[in-house]
Amino acid sequence: MDPIILSRLQFALATIVHFFYVPLTIGLSFFIAVLETRYYRTGDEQYKLQAKFWGKIFLINFVLGVVTGIALEFQFGTNWAIYSKYVGDIFGSLLAIEATLAFFLESTFIAVWAFGWDRVSKKTHLVAIWLVAFAGTISALWILLANGFMQHPVGYEIQDGVARLTSFTEVLSNPYGWMMYLHTVCGAFILASFLVMGVSAWHMYFNQNKEFFLTSFKLASTFALVFTLASFVFGHQLGQVTNKYQPAKMAAMEAVWDSEPDTPMYLLTLPKFTNEPGNLIQALPVPGMLSFLATNSFHSTIKGLNEFPADERPLVWPVFLSFRLMITLGTAFIIIAIITFFIRKIVPSLGWGLWVYILLIPLPYITLQLGWMVTELGRQPWIVYGMLRTADAGSPPVDWYQVLITLLAMGAIYGLISVTGFVMMIKTAIKGPDKLTEHYA
Ligand code: HEM
Repeated sequence: MDPIILSRLQFALATIVHFFYVPLTIGLSFFIAVLETRYYRTGDEQYKLQAKFWGKIFLINFVLGVVTGIALEFQFGTNWAIYSKYVGDIFGSLLAIEATLAFFLESTFIAVWAFGWDRVSKKTHLVAIWLVAFAGTISALWILLANGFMQHPVGYEIQDGVARLTSFTEVLSNPYGWMMYLHTVCGAFILASFLVMGVSAWHMYFNQNKEFFLTSFKLASTFALVFTLASFVFGHQLGQVTNKYQPAKMAAMEAVWDSEPDTPMYLLTLPKFTNEPGNLIQALPVPGMLSFLATNSFHSTIKGLNEFPADERPLVWPVFLSFRLMITLGTAFIIIAIITFFIRKIVPSLGWGLWVYILLIPLPYITLQLGWMVTELGRQPWIVYGMLRTADAGSPPVDWYQVLITLLAMGAIYGLISVTGFVMMIKTAIKGPDKLTEHYA
C-alpha cells in the first residue's frame, strides 16, 4: 500500500469531518448576532430567546469544529513533512496568525457570550457575539489564503531548495485565495440559512412555537436570498481565476480535451473513468458559452487537457462530476431562495410543503464538500501548484502500516465524535426553545 494514498485518505477524512462544522459556525454566528442586535435595539425578549436557542446549536457545533480541527493540523508534521519543510515559511506563518489572532479571539469571546447573559452588560454581550462572528470569518480568511498559496503560489522564491517568503503583501492579496474566501463564506451562510429554515419548518409542521420559528424562518430566508445570489457571482469570478491560474483544473471541471476557439459548453457530458482523452458522452453544445463564462469573451480559447502531459492532468471524472453537481445544487438553491423569499409570510400554512425545507437541510452540506472536491482533486497531481507534487510531499520514514493504523484510529474517533455531535445537535434542534415569554404564550 502507498503511504501517500493513505495519508491523503487520512487528511481527506479529517478535513471532510472538520468542514462539516466550520461553515455552520461562521454562518450561524452572524445569524445570532443579527438576532441579538434586534434584542439590543428593541428590548424585545423574543429576540433574546431566538439568539439563545440558535446559540445552543451553534455552541455544540463550535466545540465539534475545534476538536476535529486540532488533529488535522498535526498531520502536516506527521504525514507531510517534506511539504511542511518546503513551504512551511509561508504556510506556517499564515496558520500561526490564524491560531493566535483569530481563533483565540473567537474562543475568548465565545465564553463571554455563552456564560455572560446576565453577568455582563447587554452592550458587552452584543459586542462579544459580533467579535465571535468576525473572528470566525477572519480565521477562514487566513486558512483560505494559505490554501490560496497552494493553488496559486505567490510572494516567494526558492532558496536552498525550499520556498522562502519574499512578499507578505503578495501572499495576502492573492486573488485565488480571496475568491475562494468570498465563495466559501457565502456557502457558510447558505448552509446556516437552510439549516435554520429546515429546523423552523419542522417546528411549524408540528405546530410547535409557530410564531417563534416564523421569525427565524423569515430572517433566514433573507440570508438565503442574498447569499445564494452572492455565491453564484463569486463562484463565477472564481471560475475565471481558476481558468487563468490553473487551466488544467478548468479543463477537468468541464471535461475539455481539445483546445478550440469559441469553446462550447456541452449540457450533456460524461467523461471516461480511465482518464484517457475523449469523453463517453458529449452532446447539446451551447456555442462559445464556456469561453464566455471563463473569460467574458465568446471567442477565446479554453486550453484542453490534451495540451498537458498525462502526468500533469487531474483525474477528470470526479472533478467534472463534483463541479456539475455543485453548480446544479447551487442553481437549485437560488430558485428555492427566490421562491421562499416571496412566500415567507405564508410558510406556516404550507402543510406538507414544509417538508421540502426539512429535507433540504443536508444539501448545502453536500454542496460544500463537493466544492472542496473540485478545488483539491482538480489541483492534483500538485500539492502546491506547479511547485511540488503530492507524491513527493510525504514523510519519508513513515511506513504504510503506520498511516493505516492512524487512519483507522482517526476514522473511529472522528466517527464517534460526529455521531455524538449530530445526535446532540438534532436533539437540541427538535427540543426547541427552553421557555417562552408572554409574547408567545
Ligand atoms: C451556483 C453557482 C456556483 C458556481 C459558479 C461555483 C463555482 C465554483 C468554482 C469554479 C470552484 C472551484 C474553484 C477552484 O478550486 O479553482 C468552486 C469551489 C467551491 N464551491 Fe462553488 N460554485 C457554485 C455554487 C456553490 C455553492 C452553492 C456552494 C455551497 C453551498 C459552493 C461551495 C464551494 C466550495 C466550498 C468550494 C471549495 C472552496 C473554494 O474553492 O472556494 N459552491 N465553486
